[in-house]
Amino acid sequence: MQDLIFDLIDNEYKRQSEGLELIPSENYVSPAVLKAMGSILTNKYSEGYPYFNGIGCGRADDPDFTEWSESEIAEKILPNYRYYGGQANVDRIERLCIDRACRLFHANHANVQPHSGAQANNAVYFAWLSPGDTVLGMALPAGGHLTHGAPVTLSAHIYNFVGYGVTEDGDIDYEEMERLALEHQPKLILVGYSAFMKIPDFARIAKIRDQVSAKSGHEVLLMADMAHVAGLIAGGVHPNPLDFGFNVMTTTTHKTLRGPRGGLILSNGNVASPLKKPEKTLANIPILIDRAVFPGTQGGPLDHVISAKAVAFGEDLQPEFKKYAENIVKNAKTLATELQNLGFVLQGGGTDNHLILIDVKSSFGFDGKVYEKALDMVGLTLNANSLPHDKGPAFRPSGVRLGTPAITTRGLGVKDMKTLALWMKKVADICADAVASIDSTAQPNTYPTPTSHKATSAPRHPEDILDNYSAELETIKKEVRDLALKFPVPSL
Ligand SMILES: Cc1ncc(COP(=O)(O)O)c(C=O)c1O
Repeated sequence: MQDLIFDLIDNEYKRQSEGLELIPSENYVSPAVLKAMGSILTNKYSEGYPYFNGIGCGRADDPDFTEWSESEIAEKILPNYRYYGGQANVDRIERLCIDRACRLFHANHANVQPHSGAQANNAVYFAWLSPGDTVLGMALPAGGHLTHGAPVTLSAHIYNFVGYGVTEDGDIDYEEMERLALEHQPKLILVGYSAFMKIPDFARIAKIRDQVSAKSGHEVLLMADMAHVAGLIAGGVHPNPLDFGFNVMTTTTHKTLRGPRGGLILSNGNVASPLKKPEKTLANIPILIDRAVFPGTQGGPLDHVISAKAVAFGEDLQPEFKKYAENIVKNAKTLATELQNLGFVLQGGGTDNHLILIDVKSSFGFDGKVYEKALDMVGLTLNANSLPHDKGPAFRPSGVRLGTPAITTRGLGVKDMKTLALWMKKVADICADAVASIDSTAQPNTYPTPTSHKATSAPRHPEDILDNYSAELETIKKEVRDLALKFPVPSL
């Protein structure tokens, strides 16, 4: 009898195939990435690094190293720093992965071992900061990420996070950033986000860092968490912070980069043996990061995932990936315009990247949770999201966030964005009807309530009565399915 887990995987394949994925942090990996990820490399333990004296851990300023071809990297036997035997193949795989990552992002050094984006960020904090040190990053309500100092995280218990916000038109509030930077004199300035639709002015931020260094007399690490836009950077349609004097860039590998779930840390500086504790200077940041990932915050690397990262980076280096990155942005801009034409209010007035944040409350008067649920019922998946200065509770925010990386991988183009916008408007109209039909005396609560099959008593939230609209929703769902099935989900 087949394990139930495989039935559920089959069901998930059907769900992914028949719907359209609009969550901006998701994507579909290639069959080659899937194959590497599901390989026997998962059997291996390889704590440590595939290099011993710096050679093989990045592109460095070592002229010999930069001349190596991929086949040379794969062939050369080099000393390693590992705690287990049997490393011949995984050493070569990890070196190739590092080399491809460095080429993709013009970095001296890449640590490809972080298990996730959160692990990557925590390792950088641990590499550079001491407990109590100050970090200046984008505030969570402004579009920043949980790992940038949300009080519920471990890092917020260790370090002192100060948050900058965004302006009315949705850009970073650079004046506030500068003011807070000079006031708090942080050890680390962080640019990164999960709901921000503009292109950061990296040169301006680098100048703010220089001002803080000059005023405080201490070195300030400039870090970019580009988890969302790394694929756009790799594809050449978004500036690269490392080209503007940033010391470190972290990213997830599974969003626009279209690799397996995981993290990656790129940095510029000296590459050398991680065995010897270096002085804590910006120049030594690559070595400090290696020590902070292992043994600082992680144990053994996931060799099957590292091999899949290497395969994905190989794909990202191909000319077709540039086209893909261009199409992501083209689709996002077209979808944003179509939505605006239909009366949707967008945070920041549109998008310059792959992300769109709809102010559902201002557009239609109901919250993002209702809209997320109704769209899910027609096979359009996205997430409810807070807006800057959102007055709604975190479980019931006023917006929804969506993006185009996954649908662009499926092959949808600009003409499909009009259809998508029309479906979204029809679903919004259904939600508006549901809201209007609710007994005005019903008391809403703050937490999501289970969906009733058929609303018989006074419902507390509009999503509780969406089943009453199942015929209308089913018609849209069928149209979504018909289009989605024309664009198969890549699989083995
Ligand atoms: C900007 C940013 N940083 C870090 C992370 C965390 O990545 P992970 O979920 O892999 O830990 C995310 C994930 O959404 C993110 O958007």
